[in-house]
Amino acid sequence: MKVSVIGAGNVGATCAQVIAEKNIVNEVVLVDIKEGLSEGKALDLWQTAPVNYYDTRVTGSTNDYSKTEGSEVVVITSGVPRKPGMSRDDLISINAGIVKSVTENVIKYSPKAKIIVVSNPLDVMTYVAHAVAKAPKENVMGMAGILDTARYRAFLAEALDVSPRDIQALLMGGHGDTMVPLPRYTTVSGIPVTEFIDGEKLDAIVERTKKGGGELVALMGTSAWYAPGSAAAQMVEAIVMDQKRIFPCCVKMEGEFGLNDVYVGAPVKLGKNGIEEIIEVKLNDDEKELLVKSAGAVKSIMDVVDGMDIL
Ligand code: NAI
Ligand code: 2OP
Repeated sequence: MKVSVIGAGNVGATCAQVIAEKNIVNEVVLVDIKEGLSEGKALDLWQTAPVNYYDTRVTGSTNDYSKTEGSEVVVITSGVPRKPGMSRDDLISINAGIVKSVTENVIKYSPKAKIIVVSNPLDVMTYVAHAVAKAPKENVMGMAGILDTARYRAFLAEALDVSPRDIQALLMGGHGDTMVPLPRYTTVSGIPVTEFIDGEKLDAIVERTKKGGGELVALMGTSAWYAPGSAAAQMVEAIVMDQKRIFPCCVKMEGEFGLNDVYVGAPVKLGKNGIEEIIEVKLNDDEKELLVKSAGAVKSIMDVVDGMDIL
């Protein structure tokens, strides 16, 4: 079984590494537009196999998508970060162009692949990939919810002095300041989180989670990669191992939660058929209002892409 990762930068290389170390597929193919980058990173990663005890062959190619042929899953991490002087619309237009051309190449060689988009702005790039792939919506999804939920869980584990493994939580909505953490669906080994923490402290953690990406950019001058790469690899594992895991992922809404034709994070079941179910958890009026607001923020960026007339 083959998995391809497009973009051999920070997130892509980390994702390839985590997939390889899980030892769940025969081959991981890294592709990048930068001459030699993916070949070099793939070679370096492959040389960790004897040390880290895995068999997954890691290979790289400069823009040769024939090497990705027959991929079961493709992770798209290619894109550029926002640079000084660049407007948000400039970034959207550059990354939309990149995700468009990458998806065309991916689909040409792997028409049945499950596509996991990571490039930002995440929800809108998932829209672009889905529109270009012309694949069933079950096959095209975005990674953000696992990352945002992991940040929330890590902050909670620290505050409560418990294992992060025992914190179960759910975040919905777009990947940005309008994301919707759901304390009502947050438990510590099944015990409501509110039994452990007062409202004020929980609100502070929710706010920190919403700005979690920005906190890392401020520290490092670029965005995060260990948690994003690992989160995308967890989605790959759920699909290739047909695990039927429940994760928050970005997917097209077609009536679910009263939302239509917009791509936002929601709990889904992930297995060999990609998104096998969208789980319509019950939301109260406040939560619904936040979700609608978040979906509206995503829709306004989808409108920017529509205005570019590239799809
Ligand atoms: P990076 O700059 O380290 O890597 C991006 C790679 O994409 C570069 O190696 C570049 O050469 C490559 N690339 C650019 N155009 C390409 C094309 N047409 N074909 C193939 N490769 C191409 O960036 P990093 O840190 O890996 O982030 C990648 C993307 O993921 C960014 O858009 C970032 O904002 C996003 N991101 C999303 C997260 C999420 O939760 N969804 C979390 C973290 C990052
Ligand atoms: C993150 O949340 C910037 O999307 C990136 O780390």
